Amino acid sequence: MRVGILGSGLMGGKLGTIFARAGHEVVFSYARTSEKLKKLALDSQGNARAGTPGEAAKDADAVLMAVHWSRIDDVLKQAGGLSGKVVVTCSLPMDSGNTKLIIANTSSGAEELAKKVTRAPVVSAFNTVPSECLFGVFEAKRKSTRPSLVHCGDDQSAKDVAAKLIHDAGFDPVDAGPLRIARYTEPFALLVAQLAYEQEGGPELAYRFERFKK
Ligand SMILES: NC(=O)c1ccc[n+]([C@@H]2O[C@H](COP(=O)([O-])OP(=O)(O)OC[C@H]3O[C@@H](n4cnc5c(N)ncnc54)[C@H](OP(=O)(O)O)[C@@H]3O)[C@@H](O)[C@H]2O)c1
Repeated sequence: MRVGILGSGLMGGKLGTIFARAGHEVVFSYARTSEKLKKLALDSQGNARAGTPGEAAKDADAVLMAVHWSRIDDVLKQAGGLSGKVVVTCSLPMDSGNTKLIIANTSSGAEELAKKVTRAPVVSAFNTVPSECLFGVFEAKRKSTRPSLVHCGDDQSAKDVAAKLIHDAGFDPVDAGPLRIARYTEPFALLVAQLAYEQEGGPELAYRFERFKK
């Protein structure tokens, strides 16, 4: 799959690296320097290159939206038309200080993003885990028990694309339903962040849902 990374920081840099190592074709874009993007591409040791947001989006099957909420409009403008691309978003609608959600309860960041990219299906994914767990989960992908990763969206074929990326990153994809369920998954992401960053044990935290049937 061809994946364009829009925002190559903690999340986009690591997930792009993981997607490249899993065999996908990756274009890293949107950092403050092109040197950083080139280094990410080189270090990934996979089929990856640096580009502009427009280049990342151009031939992509899917793009990963991984910028701070305040940068969404800018990166969308630079990316140009995303028509027909699957937009996988891990961006949380946080305030400038990253202290609280500025959209919640009656909408979600994912739903507001979907209103901006009306010709591209949006899937909310990867937002419920800290970046610090990503390489560890990927490296443990052959173990019998994988951590869960919830995703949601309104377009089934787009969700299938996102589920493939989630699986290739070493997680067990959990389809949580339509995009409006991001109203629940986005605050859940803040719970996971609280456990990861504010408690002892380190931020390399992922989660797993299990059913206990008799
Ligand atoms: N970090 C996490 O563990 C985590 C977990 C779940 C969800 N999220 C969400 O994921 C999204 C990305 O988070 P992150 O932690 O990956 O953020 P980040 O590390 O700050 O990365 C953001 C990227 O945007 C780039 N950028 C920022 N301003 C720019 C500008 N003016 N021009 C060009 N590029 C610019 C940064 O460039 P530089 O690389 O040059 O700084 C960086 O590559 C956020 O919405 C966040 O809420 C994060």
